[in-house]
Amino acid sequence: MGTGGFHIPVLLNEVLYYLGLKKGDYVFDGTLGGAGHTVEIIKAIAPTGKVIGVDLNSQTVRTAAKRLGSLLRFAILINDNFANIKNILKELNIGKINGILLDLGLSSYLIEESGRGFSYLKNEKLDMRFGDSVGLTAYELLNSYSQGDLEDLFRRFGEELYSKGISKAIIDYRKKGKINTTGELVQIIEGAIPGKARYGKSGHPAKRVFQAVRIGVNRELDNLQEAIKDGFDVLSSGGRMAVISYHSLEDRIVKRSFLSYTGKCICPPDFPVCVCGRKKTGRIITKKAVRPGEKEVMENPRSKSAKLRVIEKI
Ligand SMILES: C[S@@+](CC[C@H](N)C(=O)[O-])C[C@H]1O[C@@H](n2cnc3c(N)ncnc32)[C@H](O)[C@@H]1O
Repeated sequence: MGTGGFHIPVLLNEVLYYLGLKKGDYVFDGTLGGAGHTVEIIKAIAPTGKVIGVDLNSQTVRTAAKRLGSLLRFAILINDNFANIKNILKELNIGKINGILLDLGLSSYLIEESGRGFSYLKNEKLDMRFGDSVGLTAYELLNSYSQGDLEDLFRRFGEELYSKGISKAIIDYRKKGKINTTGELVQIIEGAIPGKARYGKSGHPAKRVFQAVRIGVNRELDNLQEAIKDGFDVLSSGGRMAVISYHSLEDRIVKRSFLSYTGKCICPPDFPVCVCGRKKTGRIITKKAVRPGEKEVMENPRSKSAKLRVIEKI
């Protein structure tokens, strides 16, 4: 997703190809970030179309406005949560839209410049909020959750094998004082993971706990679920929604949500007749998740885990 501070848009050509945009389209880009996708979407829909570009991080919206320069007249930029898609469009008096993009995860700005403690490779204060208005910071969460709640969080949102030991180590640490920085958190995690497992195939030992805390702080999975549901409602017939996810928990939600629009019966196999009554309202465009090629991963290592799925409303 980025080198040298600039965010490199992931799967850019694939997003444009699968969204299949035309002049005059209205597109909701729920994750404006560095406006990398937005710039190219604008080129596809201008001068008669518009992009509604949304980001939870206010500094990101200001920087994106600057980056768009003269293209800004084809965009409406809003500092909000993409889960509020219905309200955002209602306030703008926009009925149906032709395309939606959600490029989940972190921007280069958030990792490298925000100072909010997203990276286990930096020593910063624990915050991890995308925006300013969401509930608990990572500091508040890590210093207030019970051992059981921490363990549950690390297991559910980080799929962390050593959830139990790490949560116990956090509680022990808290007996002496608060956990203030990402550096302290990394040290606690490293101390709680057995030596051999610490630097194995599954990457940095703090990776999964950082992911879990970030998901918890930002209610990321709830937001994603709501945005897909409400986004699908406001898509016009023939309109498409593209979602790029970066880990299995997100991808599972995208895959299952999209499947629910295909009319596939979800009744237990022993039911004699269908009672779920599911109707086909969508067509999945990407039979399998689209992954970046070797060249993209080489040029932009942060794209490595990206998976793109696209659905069309019928
Ligand atoms: C991977 S970046 C997007 C990068 C962008 N597509 C580009 O190419 O420059 C994800 C962005 O989504 C924002 N974000 C995450 N969750 C959000 C939410 N629920 N609502 C709005 N923005 C969100 C983050 O602040 C971040 O700027």
